[in-house]
Amino acid sequence: MRLSKVVLTLGLVGSALAEQFTNPVIYEDFADNDISRGPDGSYYLSASSFHYSPGAPILKSDDLVNWEFIGHSVPSLSWASKYNLSDGENAYNKGIWASTLRYRASTGLWYWIGCIEFSKTHIYTAPAVTGPWTLRSTLNRCYYDCGLLIDDDDTMYVVSGRNNITMAQLSADGLQEVKRQPIFSSPTGFTNIEGNRLYKRNGVYYVLDDQSSGRTLIWKSDNVWGPYTYKLLVDKVKSPVPGGYSIDQGSLVETDSGDWYFMSFVWAYPSGRMPILAPITWGDDGFPILTSVNGYWNVSYDYPLPKISTSSWLGVDTFEGTQLAPAWEWNHNPDPTKYSVQDGLTLNTATVTYDLFKARNTLTHRMHGPVAVGTLKLNVSKMMDGDRAGLAAFRDESAWIGVARNGDNFNIVFADGLAQDSSANWATISTGTIVASVPISQRVAWFRVTAQITPSSPREATFEYSTDGVHFTQLGDPVGFNNSWSYFMGLRFGIFNYATKQLGGSVKVLSFESESTST
Ligand SMILES: *[C@@H]1O[C@H](CO)[C@@H](O)[C@H](O)[C@H]1NC(C)=O
Ligand SMILES: *[C@@H]1O[C@H](CO)[C@@H](O)[C@H](O)[C@H]1NC(C)=O
Ligand SMILES: *[C@@H]1O[C@H](CO)[C@@H](O)[C@H](O)[C@H]1NC(C)=O
Ligand SMILES: *[C@@H]1O[C@H](CO)[C@@H](O)[C@H](O)[C@H]1NC(C)=O
Ligand SMILES: *[C@@H]1O[C@H](CO)[C@@H](O)[C@H](O)[C@H]1NC(C)=O
Repeated sequence: MRLSKVVLTLGLVGSALAEQFTNPVIYEDFADNDISRGPDGSYYLSASSFHYSPGAPILKSDDLVNWEFIGHSVPSLSWASKYNLSDGENAYNKGIWASTLRYRASTGLWYWIGCIEFSKTHIYTAPAVTGPWTLRSTLNRCYYDCGLLIDDDDTMYVVSGRNNITMAQLSADGLQEVKRQPIFSSPTGFTNIEGNRLYKRNGVYYVLDDQSSGRTLIWKSDNVWGPYTYKLLVDKVKSPVPGGYSIDQGSLVETDSGDWYFMSFVWAYPSGRMPILAPITWGDDGFPILTSVNGYWNVSYDYPLPKISTSSWLGVDTFEGTQLAPAWEWNHNPDPTKYSVQDGLTLNTATVTYDLFKARNTLTHRMHGPVAVGTLKLNVSKMMDGDRAGLAAFRDESAWIGVARNGDNFNIVFADGLAQDSSANWATISTGTIVASVPISQRVAWFRVTAQITPSSPREATFEYSTDGVHFTQLGDPVGFNNSWSYFMGLRFGIFNYATKQLGGSVKVLSFESESTST
């Protein structure tokens, strides 16, 4: 059963006033966050998802700390065939990053705007944040790292660019560009400023951007077109996550009481880029000041608002109903004819390959650190000769545990050393090696991956199986993971089923449990 949607309102009772939250506010990969308010007053966080589909995940919160996974702005990565991971093409590392989400009261529409592959900008709208989202317009230019502001007079402005930052004004319907001009460039001592966001406070326009080595700039002007002057908001502040590296990009948000916060993110692979929150104050000169503590982004700060718990996307999912829960994202667009949800998830093989990176319909779930534990219960009785199915620790370096059927033999196998080439369009370097194999007679088995995904060593995962759901046996040695950033997305759980001989087989995912521990 999925966790029920119980929302506990704890309210302002006594000690709640002094309660502190802990960074990262979510120990998961939600990069390039853009936070804004909805018509209900709640906070909505949009994030990057690269080659995962659906894209541009949306989280909702009423206290900026406890978030619920509610949907996606981009239902399908429909812009090119490579996003289907078919015909030998892939879109690894492409797709959605550094986009923007806003609600517009005058039309009652939500807008999502994002540049894809440095060339085109797509604008999606929806009547409700949970959808349906539709592609409304494509602009023939890239709003690189864009931020949308809907001004007091309802005019829509988009700030974007790298190094040379540009302001664009959109048409009344928000679907075309009507004006565009450069507003500033990287100042002396900075290069390649990016990660742009646009805000208005007390009639003054602010552009937040960053140099991705630990410095955040904030620019202000009385006129949206400039001239802008800047100050530093973050200058190499140290990470609240041990071993985490730079902090710079993110978004600003105001509460009803007029308090402001910076939700940035810390680069911390293999987990990814995780949201971290800190209060800011405003100086007499109209520039904001980060509340750091002895050069650190503090691990804890007072709750911004009364704590409001939300339903978690951790826990057990038994795939009831006919829809996947919002926390699931496919590796590239799935073939919709090759899976179904109905009291369990049936995954038909969708690709004949020996290469997990080329297999369609791998279903992924972000890992929740510091130590992520994923447990898959799988019915393998309908696997065909040559099929492989199981649970992967999925990134550009991957490993998996699962079942391989060879002839009439079902074996639990562990495969290690799967790798992609970051310098060659993510071509597969290795499809991995099966390093351990155990024959089984049961047709239902459990697989568990326990992964320590903090940026500090040992960054290791162990792979276990069970034939009764109670006693688990480790297969193979622990696998070490890289903390390199070039893949951008963090390590995920991947549930897969592919054929090596012919299509026609299937597996039934009876349940998946995602948990997290601190050690
Ligand atoms: C991608 O796959 C979907 C679903 O199978 C299909 O409808 C669509 O035409 C494909 N897109 C491209 C660009 O090939
Ligand atoms: C882009 O920015 C650089 C400074 O970082 C500046 O020298 C250059 O003139 C700018 N180019 C344009 C077209 O504004
Ligand atoms: C910083 O964190 C410590 C505990 O980790 C806490 O006692 C202190 O209040 C925090 N500082 C601020 C400014 O919130
Ligand atoms: C596994 O699936 C097969 C085929 O659908 C079914 O007959 C069997 O009862 C299932 N086993 C369990 C334990 O669910
Ligand atoms: C980490 O991954 C990168 C990119 O895939 C690779 O080039 C590099 O050799 C790896 N480093 C280590 C220490 O494994």
